[in-house]
Amino acid sequence: MKTVEIKENIHWVGAIDWDVRDFHGYSTYQGTTYNAFLVMDEKIALFDTVKKTHFSDLLHHIHQLTDPEKIDYLVINHVEMDHSGSLPEIVQRVKPEKIFCSQMGRKAIEQHFHPKDWPLVEVKSGDSISLGSRTVQFLETRMLHWPDSMFSYFPDDKLLLSSDAFGQHYATSERFDDEVDFSTLMGHSAKYYANILTLFSPLIRKLLAKVADMGLEIDMIAPDHGVVWRSHIRDILNAYDDWSQNKSGRRALVIYDTMWKSTKKMARAIATGISMEDVSVKLIDLAYNHRSDVMTDILGAKAVVLGSPTLNNGLLPRMAGFLMYMRGLRPTNKLGAAFGSYGWSGEAVKLMNNAMEEMKFDMIESGLRHKYVPDHEALQECVEMGRRIGRAVREQSEG
Ligand code: FEO
Repeated sequence: MKTVEIKENIHWVGAIDWDVRDFHGYSTYQGTTYNAFLVMDEKIALFDTVKKTHFSDLLHHIHQLTDPEKIDYLVINHVEMDHSGSLPEIVQRVKPEKIFCSQMGRKAIEQHFHPKDWPLVEVKSGDSISLGSRTVQFLETRMLHWPDSMFSYFPDDKLLLSSDAFGQHYATSERFDDEVDFSTLMGHSAKYYANILTLFSPLIRKLLAKVADMGLEIDMIAPDHGVVWRSHIRDILNAYDDWSQNKSGRRALVIYDTMWKSTKKMARAIATGISMEDVSVKLIDLAYNHRSDVMTDILGAKAVVLGSPTLNNGLLPRMAGFLMYMRGLRPTNKLGAAFGSYGWSGEAVKLMNNAMEEMKFDMIESGLRHKYVPDHEALQECVEMGRRIGRAVREQSEG
């Protein structure tokens, strides 16, 4: 891929991963990018590296601009391996004068790479370095996405290198937000937030407030994944504001797994009842929908209605796996309800209720179980349950 000058003398030199389809459980069906930036100043500095599999792309891109040995500084905004995997090879080639990282970054680098004599220099929020004609300020962003994470801000260029924040797993030959389809871009951004950052929403809120307080002038945000924001900065900041507040619309999801289609019949009847209350509803069979796409739907939904039959005193495996994934991300401000068909023991509804109560969902009711195959009367009960859910969504949703 060609290198791209995103600001005068600041170049994208990262790598496009067209092939990756799974990112620790997140389906990256359009690949991703690992962004790295080379700043050509009196001191030449490389900000972040790329996944180890793409080291040769990074090196090739650097070679198009300079001899790697001329790089003076490395800045490591985040140590997760998708950004630091090439660090040992880069250190060996570049022999940098200094490697800047946060205090937690230093620990993470030591625990990942066990370096003998790397010139690590710790920086903290408010510290800055000069590259010659420009300075770079650092802002620690602990837990966004790891304890070591930090932003690099270029006041002279009004540029924020935002590490994982504002990223998208989206492989394209384009490098800017205004060169790709806007709704596709926002879809990837939402999926990224839902699957990487939902858990950290309270920290996102604090960070957005802090950045506003600092009065940073920003006309470009360059994350470590996906395209660079230069035309839709206000859109992505507003979206993060909404997502981090768990704002949801008048919308319910009926998410289920089914064994002999009885729970599926119940799901459809419940969805019918929800729609009768003029609430938007989506039916999601976990056999056909990836957990990470379901999490994206949950981002904007007020009610999460879960269904599973009972298998061996427990849940069907797909529902159990989905619950484990969702509990890790901890979406909040949701209404919850559960249902399912069973044969003799029927624990599934209680297990789903317990999981949602643990996540502090506001439970609409105690749940609906039906023995074996639902008949017309049983399905009518499901419709009535759906109507109660719909009314609760209507009463509590913001829009
Ligand atoms: Fe893209 Fe937290 O790494």
